Amino acid sequence: MKKSIINQIENSLEEDDDEEERKESDDYIEIILDETKEEIYLPSTVDFQDVSAKYQQIMFFYESGINQVIAKLQILVNEFKFCNDRNPIDNISSRVKSLESITNKMKRKGLPLTMNYMVKELHDIAGVRVVCPFISDVYYVANILVNQHDVEVLEIKDYIKNPKPNGYRSLHLIIMVDVYFSDHKSQVPVEIQLRTIAMNFWASTEHQLRYKKDRKFTPAMQEELLDCSRLMAEADAKMQKLAEQFSVTDE
Ligand code: GTP
Ligand code: MG
Repeated sequence: MKKSIINQIENSLEEDDDEEERKESDDYIEIILDETKEEIYLPSTVDFQDVSAKYQQIMFFYESGINQVIAKLQILVNEFKFCNDRNPIDNISSRVKSLESITNKMKRKGLPLTMNYMVKELHDIAGVRVVCPFISDVYYVANILVNQHDVEVLEIKDYIKNPKPNGYRSLHLIIMVDVYFSDHKSQVPVEIQLRTIAMNFWASTEHQLRYKKDRKFTPAMQEELLDCSRLMAEADAKMQKLAEQFSVTDE
């Protein structure tokens, strides 16, 4: 019979006079193990495997959502390759949020660290980033996606029209995408970040700077970053104008 090591420890504690002292000691576990003389399954390990299996199952759910969105985008990339002289999608990347980022965000939001809260409250566990040459491409690709019948839009944050105070610009969509599993269909939440190459340059380099350990941005550095963001926005606007001039002359 499998005996819970925790029960054994609790039982022994009841008979124990020097409870506190023994709790501290590494030998304590060994004494119990010697006493039982039977195979002991660590409940902590079993519990952990159980939790770990559930977690992996949930992550598979999000990965499937990412796969679905990537497939949609890849079809567009291929279509534009064949039918257009240029591609409105420069590159696509994706990630499932790491466990560390998930727990950090949940702590920040004051949420209990449970899988139920994770699934209910975090809509950016599955993330896809689409980088486009021009601002008009960002909205063009976003519109194609949100008009597909198996895509439901939960939220749109337009940090291009309304940049964050630090200068961050991008178009964020939270969508629910239909995914067919073997015996059912699910809607999987996926965060899609769409941005131009210039916006991506700013966000990637700002992120690198921000995540340097033991360093904080001074107000002067923040002002510099904001200035860089303005330069990127200016470049985007100029490129957009050129793109429009080209499409006019092409016609
Ligand atoms: P998070 O807790 O960061 O997910 O914030 P949120 O759920 O309120 O969403 P928000 O739209 O503000 O940001 C979501 C994601 O956009 C982040 O996880 C980053 O990938 C990106 N992002 C937002 N703000 C910044 C920023 O100031 N700099 C950079 N580099 N990326 C940002
Ligand atoms: Mg987010």
